[in-house]
Amino acid sequence: MPYPYVLLSAAVSLDGCLDDTGPDRLLLSSPADFDRVDEVRASVDAILIGAGTIRADNPRLLVNDPGRRAARVAAGRPEYPLKVTVTATGDLDPDARFWHTGGGKVVYTTDAGAARIRGLGVAADVVSLGAVLDWPTLLRDLYEARGVGRLMVEGGGTVHTQLLQQGLADELQLVLAPLFVGDPKAPRLFGPGGYQAGRLRLVESRRIEDVVLMRYEPTAPGVDGSVSPADRHWLRIACELAADCPPSRTAFSVGAVVVAADGRELARGHSREAGDPVVHAEEAALAKIPADDPRLAAATVYTSLEPCTRRASRPHPCAELILRAGVRRVVTAWREPDTFVEAADGTGALREAGVSVVVLGAYEDLAKAPNGHLLS
Ligand SMILES: NC(=O)c1ccc[n+]([C@@H]2O[C@H](COP(=O)([O-])OP(=O)(O)OC[C@H]3O[C@@H](n4cnc5c(N)ncnc54)[C@H](OP(=O)(O)O)[C@@H]3O)[C@@H](O)[C@H]2O)c1
Repeated sequence: MPYPYVLLSAAVSLDGCLDDTGPDRLLLSSPADFDRVDEVRASVDAILIGAGTIRADNPRLLVNDPGRRAARVAAGRPEYPLKVTVTATGDLDPDARFWHTGGGKVVYTTDAGAARIRGLGVAADVVSLGAVLDWPTLLRDLYEARGVGRLMVEGGGTVHTQLLQQGLADELQLVLAPLFVGDPKAPRLFGPGGYQAGRLRLVESRRIEDVVLMRYEPTAPGVDGSVSPADRHWLRIACELAADCPPSRTAFSVGAVVVAADGRELARGHSREAGDPVVHAEEAALAKIPADDPRLAAATVYTSLEPCTRRASRPHPCAELILRAGVRRVVTAWREPDTFVEAADGTGALREAGVSVVVLGAYEDLAKAPNGHLLS
């Protein structure tokens, strides 16, 4: 995907507020958690906030620890991450700290907003995205034109809500602070609207003084050829599963996961699992799902190696098993090399049968890792 990894970061009160309505910023995190946030900032290429947060909090968005800044420089990176904001109106204070601290700055805005911001005389790259601001275009520009591989988004709620609802967030880092705000007018983290169905995956929970950090990943697969952040997470899991395969000199080690449209895992499998010396990963996973499960029609099969089209060990190759199961979407990391079967092309066969096949080449090395002895 031509987008950065997008990490949403926020702290909320027990009643789900981002702030109160007083003039000063409400400090929700603990000192140790602010230091954790500083560490995350030091790890990213850019930090984005909405114009509402600039107006409400007037933040600097710096990496405060000198050692972390020195480490960035030593690694050939800018001392500070790029600072990014979004505004439609361009209604920003030229004296805001955002403009006068840290390194480079970019403002993504509309044609009308751009005219206003250019009039402010601030030292920032002003990018108009036309009549309205389109998030995929913004992310593509950060990735392709500015080399941003990791983007931290520090709010506020308007920005977080859009990125999550549009399926553009890879991760949510949420800190729960042990206090109540109790004000019905206080800003909330997420607004109403359409989110992914089903549950997100909790990948970590950590106590930090009196707050709790929870890290979540979205789980809902993309649709047809469009790739969601969850596609990347599931494919990584499939690739990691391949490491569980008993070693073989005559067959690849492959992992597979079948996921329903709402992000629920239906089954997983790997090559040669449960003592079956010839079972393939997709075959093992699909065998665990009742053939009449109605979720299969909208499910995605994630497999570290593209499904096979010919095999000596069993009558039905995996591409055929996928078609028989009624699955219409496959995400894979690696096209099958000629090691055992020449010109296998499971991707082509499935596409010809109307299945959407997405190949995420960024995971090819991970898929190959347990198969190095077959490829040298
Ligand atoms: N607790 C935390 O972790 C945390 C973190 C950050 C912020 N906050 C709090 O959150 C509150 C601010 O949140 P918020 O939701 O009001 O503001 P926000 O999300 O920071 O910014 C919203 C503004 O960003 C611009 N914007 C957002 N989406 C846009 C789009 N698609 N196209 C063009 N412009 C867009 C608009 O600016 P224009 O109006 O200029 O057009 C919009 O009004 C503050 O109270 C702050 O303290 C808390």
